[in-house]
Amino acid sequence: MEEDDVVCLDASFFVNDNYQLTKFSFGSQVLELYCLQSASICMAADYDLTGQLVWPGAVLLNNFLSENEELLRGCSVIELGSGVGITGMLCHRFCREVVLTDHNDEILEKNIELHESSQESQAGLKSEKLEWGNSEQLEKILQDHPEGFDLILGADIYILIIVISCIIFQQCSIPSLFDTVEKILRVRQQGNCKFILAYVSRAKVMDALVISEAIRHGLLVSEVTGTRTIVKNLEGVIFEITCGRTQATGNSDS
Ligand SMILES: C[S@@+](CC[C@H](N)C(=O)[O-])C[C@H]1O[C@@H](n2cnc3c(N)ncnc32)[C@H](O)[C@@H]1O
Repeated sequence: MEEDDVVCLDASFFVNDNYQLTKFSFGSQVLELYCLQSASICMAADYDLTGQLVWPGAVLLNNFLSENEELLRGCSVIELGSGVGITGMLCHRFCREVVLTDHNDEILEKNIELHESSQESQAGLKSEKLEWGNSEQLEKILQDHPEGFDLILGADIYILIIVISCIIFQQCSIPSLFDTVEKILRVRQQGNCKFILAYVSRAKVMDALVISEAIRHGLLVSEVTGTRTIVKNLEGVIFEITCGRTQATGNSDS
């Protein structure tokens, strides 16, 4: 084949971005946003596309938050791995300020624009690019929020699937996730920041790794009573993760 016969297509040509405007209800809260209906894995994109749809973890977390609005009232929140942004958007109805973050924030931006054009007030809602473990990006966010946050939220945020040259890798980003979580938690020296993690179990090895990584970072993990449930045929639970008293040791109720 001659070089002239080769047609090079940009990776974006293969990416499914046929987002549908979709309505979701959590208790009395109804949210509408753009998302895919099922996961798309693009063999040509060397980046993470897992955030294009709403995951079971977000359903679990949003149901929990809509039943416990008082946890959110007047709070400042940072969400990690926001995906389409459904959790942050719900929080925005109750919180003082919400920062949605992801390392791939394309769909997030689109949904924030949609939100902006709706009747809802935009005050206190923004998105930032944040790759876990990236100190520079985190510093930039913390410069704007020197007092830190009341809550860190995360739903289904411990696996990353990337495709490089047709090979699918499941990359473990749990250590860098907890590096970021620990840094944000420790901004509040009084220890009054907590990480609420909606965890959906997919592999025993992952279950153990999440807990052990939190403990390695000197954090305390406790299961929120009554939250263990089945979501989309998988077992899910809400964990509350806080700063331990010492850096080196931690307790887990789970
Ligand atoms: C499984 S999706 C969950 C999305 C959303 N929280 C939900 O439950 O619908 C994981 C999200 O984490 C993001 N993510 C994965 N690894 C990341 C990393 N190292 N840094 C920042 N974001 C990451 C992905 O882009 C994706 O949006």
